[in-house]
Amino acid sequence: MFLLGGFQVKLDRILPYARILLEKAVSPGDLAVDATAGNGHDTLFLASLVGESGHVFAFDIQEQAIENTRKRLQENGVQERVTLFHKSHDELKSCLPADCAGSIAGAIFNLGYLPGGDKHVVTKGHSTIAAIEHLLDCMASGGIIVLVVYHGHPEGAVERDELLSYVKALPQDKAHVLHYGFMNQVNSPPFIIAIEKR
Ligand SMILES: C[S@@+](CC[C@H](N)C(=O)[O-])C[C@H]1O[C@@H](n2cnc3c(N)ncnc32)[C@H](O)[C@@H]1O
Repeated sequence: MFLLGGFQVKLDRILPYARILLEKAVSPGDLAVDATAGNGHDTLFLASLVGESGHVFAFDIQEQAIENTRKRLQENGVQERVTLFHKSHDELKSCLPADCAGSIAGAIFNLGYLPGGDKHVVTKGHSTIAAIEHLLDCMASGGIIVLVVYHGHPEGAVERDELLSYVKALPQDKAHVLHYGFMNQVNSPPFIIAIEKR
C-alpha cells in the first residue's frame, strides 16, 4: 500500500512489483543476473535472494556503476556472492561460466541511465534485446526476466518501442510475456515487462 494524493493505493508500484516477480523466480542456491548494476540496489536484492549458496552475475558499462555496486555489496557483506562485469550485458553469454547453461533462475534489467550519473549513457534497445535472447538461451525453464522500462527520455521512448515489438513477437510456446503499468499517470511513468521462459 502507498500514499498518492492522500489516498492509500493498494496496487503495487512498479519497483516493488519488480521485486515481487524476482522473489517468485529466485530462491536460495540459485543463479541470477543483474543486467544493469547501476548503484547496486537490485544486485544487493538478488544477492539476498540467492543466499550464501547461490550466485549473482552483474553487468554495467560504466566504471562508476561497478564501483558503486561493489561498495554497496561490501557494506552489506555479500560481495562473495556476486561477480561484477564491467561489460555490456549483450556480452553476457561469453562472460557466464559454461556450467550456468540452463540454470539462471531470474534476471533484472532496470533500464535507462544511472541515477546521479551521466544521463547520456543509456541502455539501447538492440543490446537489451541481444541480452534477453542470450538469457532465454541460458535460463532455466520457469526463469523470469524482469525489465523496468523508463521511457520519459527520448532514447527511452525508442527503446520502449523496440522492446514492445520484440516481446510481442516472442512465440507463445517459448515464453509468457506480462506488461504491468499504470495507464493514467502523467509524465510517462515506468512500466514492467516480465518474460517467463517456458
Ligand atoms: C537505471 S540504471 C540501473 C539501476 C540499478 N539497477 C540499481 O539498482 O541501482 C541503468 C544502468 O544501465 C547501465 N547500462 C547502460 N547500457 C548498458 C549495457 N549495454 N550493459 C550493461 N549496463 C548498461 C547504465 O550504465 C546504468 O548504470
